[in-house]
Amino acid sequence: MKILVTGGNGYKGSVLVPKLLDKGHYVRSIDTNWFGDYLKSHKNLDKIVCDIRNLNKSHLENIDCVIHLANIANDPLVDLNPQLSWEVNVLGSQLLAQLSVEAEVKQFLFASSGSVYGVSDRPKVNEETPLIPISAYNKTKMVAERVFLSYQDKMHIACIRPATVCGVSPRMRLDVAVNILTYSALEKGTITVFGGDQIRPNIHIDDICRVYEFFLGKENQIKSGFFNAGFENISILDIAKKVVSKLPHCKINILESNDPRSYRQCSEKLLKYGFKPEKNVDSAISEIIETYRAGNLNKNNTCFSVKHLKSQNIS
Ligand SMILES: NC(=O)c1ccc[n+]([C@@H]2O[C@H](COP(=O)([O-])OP(=O)(O)OC[C@H]3O[C@@H](n4cnc5c(N)ncnc54)[C@H](O)[C@@H]3O)[C@@H](O)[C@H]2O)c1
Repeated sequence: MKILVTGGNGYKGSVLVPKLLDKGHYVRSIDTNWFGDYLKSHKNLDKIVCDIRNLNKSHLENIDCVIHLANIANDPLVDLNPQLSWEVNVLGSQLLAQLSVEAEVKQFLFASSGSVYGVSDRPKVNEETPLIPISAYNKTKMVAERVFLSYQDKMHIACIRPATVCGVSPRMRLDVAVNILTYSALEKGTITVFGGDQIRPNIHIDDICRVYEFFLGKENQIKSGFFNAGFENISILDIAKKVVSKLPHCKINILESNDPRSYRQCSEKLLKYGFKPEKNVDSAISEIIETYRAGNLNKNNTCFSVKHLKSQNIS
């Protein structure tokens, strides 16, 4: 297939694009490269440095499927410049959807977020659960989902709501729960946990990439809609304990939290369609430790998205 990946140089994108190329797909990656360029040259890869707010019809030419990852991708990043985030996450996304329809793209996969559910004490948060987005980031995702679904009469749309992703990537993110706790244990011998009781769903980076691959070409088998993608609901404290079980010299320090987000994601819908996760939080922790010890973990400034984007003065 010919696939356009926006955000191809991001945390997920830089793992996903090589996997797609290995499967024989042609990939066009569009990214501003705010965090660097991690994609090696390949005969079936076109890398375009472009802001999704400036897309034109040539970017969509001959594309069968769009995997849309390019966004301002978490709460604190969005809070740096909410106006920019509404422009990128919603208006840029609408432009991409419109151009995709005009180019007769068959399938559109959107990386929404499980955080659209906000705070919920329901034992099972599934796709029917009402959304209570509490941050500007959550709100941009919720609105963008509605924009995309308004095009479902023209192309197949899957709004995938991933849990927090964990594991190693060339464009490493050290601002997501499992990664930061493991990194902190390795670097400082201490893990600081804020609150700790909040339950959050998790998904391994290889599994979320496999979720996107799972949808490819299934536009006639899976109805357009929303799809949770998170397979391990665990508290932050339990993640810290998993890290300590692999690094027993480390200590856990618990501080008060001002972040109430807590929810359990249920991904039965995706499982019923036949998707099977292959990895988990434990595998992510082990892989981060292994990569760190081998001296191959990317831990430069770009891995701390907020600090990095603040220094770049992006607008
Ligand atoms: N990582 C997670 O835990 C997680 C969980 C749920 C949803 N998501 C969603 O998945 C997607 C990818 O997340 P990620 O973790 O890879 O984030 P990331 O920040 O590492 O990647 C985003 C990429 O998009 C690019 N980008 C941002 N704005 C752009 C623009 N205007 N034009 C072109 N490129 C632009 C950035 O340069 C970056 O390479 C995001 O939409 C995010 O909201 C991520």
